[in-house]
Amino acid sequence: MSRIAVIGSCNVDLTVEADRRPGAGETVMGRRLVISPGGKGANQAVAAARLGADVWMVGCVGDDANGRMMLDTLAREGVHTDYVKVLSGVTTGTAHITLAEGDNSIIVVKGANDRVDEACVDAAWETIRSCDMILLQHEIPLATNGYIVRRAAEERLSVLLNPAPFEEVPAEILEKITYVTPNEHEAALMFPGLSREEILSRPACTVLMTVGADGVLFGGEEGPETVPGFTVPVVDTTGAGDTFNGAFAAAVSEGMAVRDAVRFANAAAALSIGKIGAQGGMPRRAEVEEMLTCRKQES
Ligand code: RIB
Repeated sequence: MSRIAVIGSCNVDLTVEADRRPGAGETVMGRRLVISPGGKGANQAVAAARLGADVWMVGCVGDDANGRMMLDTLAREGVHTDYVKVLSGVTTGTAHITLAEGDNSIIVVKGANDRVDEACVDAAWETIRSCDMILLQHEIPLATNGYIVRRAAEERLSVLLNPAPFEEVPAEILEKITYVTPNEHEAALMFPGLSREEILSRPACTVLMTVGADGVLFGGEEGPETVPGFTVPVVDTTGAGDTFNGAFAAAVSEGMAVRDAVRFANAAAALSIGKIGAQGGMPRRAEVEEMLTCRKQES
């Protein structure tokens, strides 16, 4: 069983389904409100745990009902929560999501996630350093991520950074990361002036560029390779990227080759969009394996 440490955000997602988004100064009626666990960190932790990894979450929640909901959900999913701090005087992170016209738009209020600092990392370090992979995203302070990456590099630990939402990562930090998983837009901001081929063939960290339903591009031994995605009916794409990251981390930590791990993660991400909520559709291992087998037989 692979061991994964996720240092990142815990948010409660408040998702409103509506026919369309309101314009500035306009009010529209929503169809329903769904309150569910989310946050890129917690989502990636749950995705990896459902696929069989032993996962530790390191983060912060507020001393409120949303914080309790996040801790309960993580524990129910089998994610270790010993290093999720409960802070008083600050709210648990929330994401305010509009699901309309076939896509989502999200405003995140960081709350307690902004308090994930070096002390939180130090308290968990003995566990973090025993893991096969460390997963990071951009919903906790950038300085904390930098601290983790430097410490991990000193001990030659594998780190995967999902650079979402986009923030500029210092070159010195980027060079120390094992895998980075930007979407096309984030990749262009992260590596300004470089072509796709140049981004994918950089010698330092392995770039896995997600290109929506088209799949994922990465630099293989003989140049850029594409691993196609799976076409499935869409209910809610929220958390699909997180499912990809959690699944890839779980698979590659088990020793799967990068190409196979990307295909595995593409299947998990495709399955995740069939239900509402970031974690609602995240699959278990057997579902991913069944999809991979069926699609192989189809092709
Ligand atoms: O990636 C999806 C996640 O982004 C949501 O669960 C929401 O919490 C935001 O952080």
